[in-house]
Amino acid sequence: MKAGFIGTGHYVPEKVVTNADLEKIVDTNDEWIRTRTGIEERRIADDTMDTSDLAYEAALKAMEDASITADEIDMILIATVTPDTPFPSVSCMLQEKLGATNAAAMDVSAACSGFMYGVITAKQFIETEAYKNVLIVGVEKLSKITDWSDRNTCVLFGDGAGAAVLGPVSDDKGILSFELGADGGGGKYLLQDKDYISMNGREVFKFAVRQMPESSVHVVEKAGFNKEDVDYLIPHQANIRIMEAARQRLGIPEEKMSTSVKRYGNTSAASIPIALSEDVKNGKIKDNDLVVLVGFGGGLTWGAIALKWGK
Ligand code: UT7
Repeated sequence: MKAGFIGTGHYVPEKVVTNADLEKIVDTNDEWIRTRTGIEERRIADDTMDTSDLAYEAALKAMEDASITADEIDMILIATVTPDTPFPSVSCMLQEKLGATNAAAMDVSAACSGFMYGVITAKQFIETEAYKNVLIVGVEKLSKITDWSDRNTCVLFGDGAGAAVLGPVSDDKGILSFELGADGGGGKYLLQDKDYISMNGREVFKFAVRQMPESSVHVVEKAGFNKEDVDYLIPHQANIRIMEAARQRLGIPEEKMSTSVKRYGNTSAASIPIALSEDVKNGKIKDNDLVVLVGFGGGLTWGAIALKWGK
């Protein structure tokens, strides 16, 4: 039994906040943000939408894409660090909104790597045949834990949701290999301190430019392929300079890497599934492509997956 993606979907709030908008609230400028991060704009949710509402919109699209109904979902996994409330979990809230009464529900906490941890958790349930359809949503309303007076962090983040349905796929498709890791000693570099995100950007940067390329190569090799075989790379959309380190290590051309960070900023656990959903829909990812997903984040945590796209 192989587990793979049978549907994807995403949702981002309508409100666009540009770099020029941020120039009005902190001492920053468009040129600094673009050259240091690659970000041009981000989406911010209004007061009417909390994390579970963003998740709901993305989940509906992924379910439609997978052609499954709510009662066919066996498990809901939500990857987030910005839940509506500490409990009940966002996954329980989503279960209720969807009417997915047959689904078990739990949240996964691995910061920006959360979607990767969620997918690999789902894989275990599917490959043991315990469950058939697992809905995973990476979702963040980071704007509610962003200190809008801190230029070191407020220019980086955005809100959004990316969802996927995982299920059984044919033997030559689906998840081929993975790597998950953590280094709790680095937790001090990226955390929620009281109400807001607090970050040592340089330390996180150093960790990420080492870990993302390394993990990408590991999963490709574990899957029995060479770097040249990679058709598409979706790195966590945090900073174009970090993403470039992974792309260059794999030696693949620019057009084979997602760069939605330009339009959405860093949406933490949502960044990889938003990019995946967009790039499947716009035809950049095709049936049978060898795709690498790779993420890093607070914890510190990291995760990478090599997969063959298709059912
Ligand atoms: O999902 C994981 C989340 N975190 C990350 O991915 C963060 C990883 N780190 C980074 O992406 C980068 O470290 C940053 C983009 C956060 C910063 O880039 P950098 O090239 O490492 O810049 P820096 O921290 O070395 O700062 C350079 C200068 C400093 O000024 P001085 O000390 O040289 O005078 C900062 O104060 O840039 C200044 N600066 C800013 N200037 C304009 C910091 N933030 C800003 C800003 N606008 N928004």
